[in-house]
Amino acid sequence: MAGQSAQRGAGMAEAEAKWRRAMKALAIPADILEAAPESPYGFPAAIWGRPTEPIDSPSRRRAVEVLPQAGSVLDVGAGGGAASLALTPCAAHIVAVDENEALLEAFAANAEAAAVGHSTIVGRWPDVAPRAPGADVAVCHHVFYNALDLGGFARALTDHSRRRVVVELTAAHPLDGFNDLWRHFHGIDRPHGPNADDAVAVLAESGIEVQSELSERRSMWSDAPRSALVGFVRRRLCLGPECDPDIDALIGDAPESSPRHMVTLWWPGGAR
Ligand SMILES: C[S@@+](CC[C@H](N)C(=O)[O-])C[C@H]1O[C@@H](n2cnc3c(N)ncnc32)[C@H](O)[C@@H]1O
Repeated sequence: MAGQSAQRGAGMAEAEAKWRRAMKALAIPADILEAAPESPYGFPAAIWGRPTEPIDSPSRRRAVEVLPQAGSVLDVGAGGGAASLALTPCAAHIVAVDENEALLEAFAANAEAAAVGHSTIVGRWPDVAPRAPGADVAVCHHVFYNALDLGGFARALTDHSRRRVVVELTAAHPLDGFNDLWRHFHGIDRPHGPNADDAVAVLAESGIEVQSELSERRSMWSDAPRSALVGFVRRRLCLGPECDPDIDALIGDAPESSPRHMVTLWWPGGAR
């Protein structure tokens, strides 16, 4: 640990610098961004706010095996709560953190329906971490690829978890699959984003040794309403609605037919 702090003090460590370079390389070219009819960023509630059936995934199992009866869960980047609501009935109280208020409203409705105690914190992790209580388990699914300072983001998760942090992310960056569409509509080649191995390297550099498990399942988007899915892709690509039929045809059955490789990471919590 002392070596790692010294490394941080001496400048940015290698894995972190690589992560940041790869994240920044994903910036949308300025001319395309300026001409975009709508903001390409964000996560629509029609896709990420829906109540979902708890999936018996490695991520769920790793959280449940250390969650006490009537335990507490902190869900960072909760969206509609897919990660934490899968932990009921063991979880008695869930604190959901998200920068998107509409998604937290969807989370609250889903938590009501599941009859689980809940509260919400609107804001960006780790900026709002000082307002978040410690929990038995912290979960964070499909948020890492939004964190430029991944080491600081993960350390704040450790600090808010007493027993375990469980993170899920796709093995490859989720926007890699959009590269053919960028070439088709804009004629540009986009870089691949950082991947799960890059994330693990950043965590190791931050003093966090993780355990990991690979699994496979259908895309999280596979059962989203088609119009929401097409609209999401259209916005990410900075296109207008006149492109929807083309997008629809080009996506085809990929969301249902291409399995996603998921990575579950877990490590001990550090909160008292
Ligand atoms: C892909 S969705 C995943 C939602 C949910 N965890 C799931 O697995 O279905 C990413 C979520 O993280 C939120 N988010 C992204 N970066 C965040 C940050 N730094 N702090 C808080 N929320 C963030 C987004 O608003 C969005 O709700």
